[in-house]
Amino acid sequence: MGHQFTRAHLLLVLIIASAVASRAHKLKSATFLSPELVLAPGSVTNTFHYNVGFPTGHIGLKSFHVEPVDSGRPIPLYDTYLHHWAINRYVIPKGGSKSSSSSSDGESAKFVRNDGICQGNILGQHYGSGSETRRTATFLPDPYAIEIGNPEEGFEERWMLGIHAIDTRGVVDGQGCMECLCELYNVTIGGGYHGGLKCCEDGDQCRVKLGFQGRKRSVYLRYTVKWVDWVDGEFLPVKVFIADVTDTGERDMTETTGCQVEYEVEPCSNGDDDWCVDVKRLNFTLPASGYVVYGVGHQHSGALGQAVYRQNGEVICKSVPIYGTGHEAGNEAGFVVGMSTCYPEPGSVKVTAGEKLILETNYSSSGARGHFGVMGLFHIFIADQLPQPPKPTMATTFFHRSISAAHVFGGFSAESWTILAVSGLAALLVGVVGFSIWLNKQRGTEDGYQVIMAIGMSLV
Ligand SMILES: *[C@@H]1O[C@H](CO)[C@@H](O)[C@H](O)[C@H]1NC(C)=O
Ligand SMILES: *[C@@H]1O[C@H](CO)[C@@H](O)[C@H](O)[C@H]1NC(C)=O
Ligand SMILES: *[C@@H]1O[C@H](CO)[C@@H](O)[C@H](O)[C@H]1NC(C)=O
Repeated sequence: MGHQFTRAHLLLVLIIASAVASRAHKLKSATFLSPELVLAPGSVTNTFHYNVGFPTGHIGLKSFHVEPVDSGRPIPLYDTYLHHWAINRYVIPKGGSKSSSSSSDGESAKFVRNDGICQGNILGQHYGSGSETRRTATFLPDPYAIEIGNPEEGFEERWMLGIHAIDTRGVVDGQGCMECLCELYNVTIGGGYHGGLKCCEDGDQCRVKLGFQGRKRSVYLRYTVKWVDWVDGEFLPVKVFIADVTDTGERDMTETTGCQVEYEVEPCSNGDDDWCVDVKRLNFTLPASGYVVYGVGHQHSGALGQAVYRQNGEVICKSVPIYGTGHEAGNEAGFVVGMSTCYPEPGSVKVTAGEKLILETNYSSSGARGHFGVMGLFHIFIADQLPQPPKPTMATTFFHRSISAAHVFGGFSAESWTILAVSGLAALLVGVVGFSIWLNKQRGTEDGYQVIMAIGMSLV
């Protein structure tokens, strides 16, 4: 008798659970594997993969999460350093080759870059990051999404994944190899260029300890895309901008103007000072007005944080590195394993086209060597519309509150609203559990409690 009652409750909980999940957002999710990358100790891969797996149709992107893996298991950064990855949109005339490869679309691809702000196709990706990828949130709160999959007539939209990774097993100088110190790669560029992307191109080799034996290893990027089917009026599009602290502001398309992507941090002269900070600033403007929905920086090891300010010093968005403290993938000691993100309360932070903004990027310049090939990119997603006031349904009320709670606590992880939703469910379960305990107490058994707890735990 007691058991029957418990089952009826479980069913009820599960029905409510699925109702909440489907009301809250019609979120779809798919996980893809990049083409195989084969790496040996000290080797570099910097490859561009056209026509990679991606959801199709007229959709709104909600998040893009990346995990470097070997045969299914996460690979730690101290074995394979993920320098960066980026996913770029392009179109080809309809009816192009179906194959997914590094070259087949290369000739005919017409890149459809993000909304700015660098020159040409530089930093034109919709998403991109590096070692911080595992612990950096990319989720866009409802009703916002990146609208894609509506290419011009006669064209088909596809995606290119660029991956730059360095195998640092057995190398003589891990930090040096990761920062692409030219001398470690036996590359000479000249002109005062000591380290950076030009010295660790695809196929280059960093110096490995004498006699070190390490097998070739297959590496993949496993990426999970979340999206919604686009419905006009239900979702609001966001524009994607990337500001680069090295931007010279000129747009004449020479090699030394515009966004330079990387720069060098010189060591502070006072070698015994532990707290030297290299501060680099950029004055820039956005070409569009709107409300800031999401922001995140991209920095390398040595990072101390980034922020976008207004002229009056008001912080628009700040992003600071999360350093690992352990050994496991996602928490590798000394590596930037995440960047904090900002999610302003909807409508609270407005920027105006042409408004003078400042990007500030800080690195540690303590120690004898400084840093080479570092980056100071800042992703800013803005929307030109505010969400409608939420309808007073259970799901929207719930969601609205989740966002405020996350805002109060500062950070807002990719899945935090899901977590909050699940916590809500858990709370619901606790309620039902409480009720069941009470009921079962009346009937002299606590079996039901065990069962519901087990289900509760597996849901969380
Ligand atoms: C780099 O140059 C040194 C000295 O010229 C040589 O011993 C070494 O094998 C070279 N390393 C690589 C990776 O080519
Ligand atoms: C940015 O603009 C301010 C004046 O608004 C100026 O003092 C500063 O030098 C500029 N910085 C750069 C890096 O151009
Ligand atoms: C960068 O460093 C300067 C000087 O220490 C500091 O005033 C500023 O707040 C820092 N900026 C960020 C974004 O951390």
